[in-house]
Amino acid sequence: MRFKDKVALVTGSAQGIGRGISLAFAGEGADIIVADVNLKEAEKVRREIKALGRQAEAVELDVTDLSKVQDTLNKILDKFKKIDILVNNAGITRDNLILRMSEAEWAGVLKVNLTGTFNCTKAVSRVMLKQKSGKIINIASIIGIIGNIGQANYSASKAGIIALTKTTAKELASRNINVNAIAPGFIKTQMTEKLPEEIKAKMLAEIPLARFGNPQDIANTCLFLASEESSYITGQTIVVDGGMV
Ligand SMILES: NC(=O)c1ccc[n+]([C@@H]2O[C@H](COP(=O)([O-])OP(=O)(O)OC[C@H]3O[C@@H](n4cnc5c(N)ncnc54)[C@H](O)[C@@H]3O)[C@@H](O)[C@H]2O)c1
Repeated sequence: MRFKDKVALVTGSAQGIGRGISLAFAGEGADIIVADVNLKEAEKVRREIKALGRQAEAVELDVTDLSKVQDTLNKILDKFKKIDILVNNAGITRDNLILRMSEAEWAGVLKVNLTGTFNCTKAVSRVMLKQKSGKIINIASIIGIIGNIGQANYSASKAGIIALTKTTAKELASRNINVNAIAPGFIKTQMTEKLPEEIKAKMLAEIPLARFGNPQDIANTCLFLASEESSYITGQTIVVDGGMV
C-alpha cells in the first residue's frame, strides 16, 4: 500500500484514463475524490473505489469554472482535510481542420484542457503550499509535442499544459511540491473509440510496441510520479506511447 491515507483528487475521472488512475491509487490505499461533469458516471466509480475499501467522494465539477472549483475544493477539504495528489486529467476533443474550425471549437477545447488545468492547479496549490507537500500530475498528450492534422485546438492546449507544468514546477518546488506531466499516445478509451477504423489502423502501424495503450499504462506512470521514488523529478513530461514519438 504505497499511498495509504493519501488523498487524491482526479478530474475527469468518471471514465477512461481518469477512472483508471483513480482505481490504481485506491488499490494502493489512497482515498479518492472523483470529480467530473458527469456525476452519474462518477458515482459508479465512487462505488468501485468503496468496494476496494477506500474512502471516496463523487463530486460534480466543471473544471472551466474557477469559482466552482474553489467552492468544491472547500467542501472536499471539510471532509478530507488535505489534498496530497492532484491529477489534472479532464479533457475533450473537438477536431476540425483549421480552415473549418469554429471559434467555439477552438475556445471550448482550450477552456477545458488548459484553463481547467490552470484553475485546479491554482486552487489546489494554495492548499499544498500550506501543507508544504504535494504532487501535481497533468495529463498532456503526444499531440502537444508532435501536432496532428485536425487538432489545432487540442495540440495547442496540450502544448500549453506542458509549458504550464514547467512553470508551476519552478514556482512550487521550494515547498516540496512536484509538478509533472504525462504525454500519452493512443490509449483505448471512449475518447479514441469514436475515431474512424482506418485512422486507428494507421496509428497502430506507427506504434513500435504494436498495441494501443490502456488506462492502466497511464495509471502506472501516475503512481510513480506521485510516489517518493520520483521525488527528485519535477517539471518533466513523460511520454507513454509505446514508442510512437
Ligand atoms: N485516450 C487517449 O488516447 C489520450 C491520449 C492522450 C491524452 N489523453 C488525455 O487523457 C485525458 C483523459 O482522456 P480519456 O481518453 O480518458 O477521455 P474520456 O473522454 O474517456 O474521459 C474524459 C472525462 O473528462 C470529463 N470532462 C470533460 N469535460 C470536463 C469538464 N469541463 N470538467 C470536468 N470533467 C470533464 C468527461 O466527462 C470524461 O469523464 C484527457 O485529458 C485526454 O486529452 C487521452
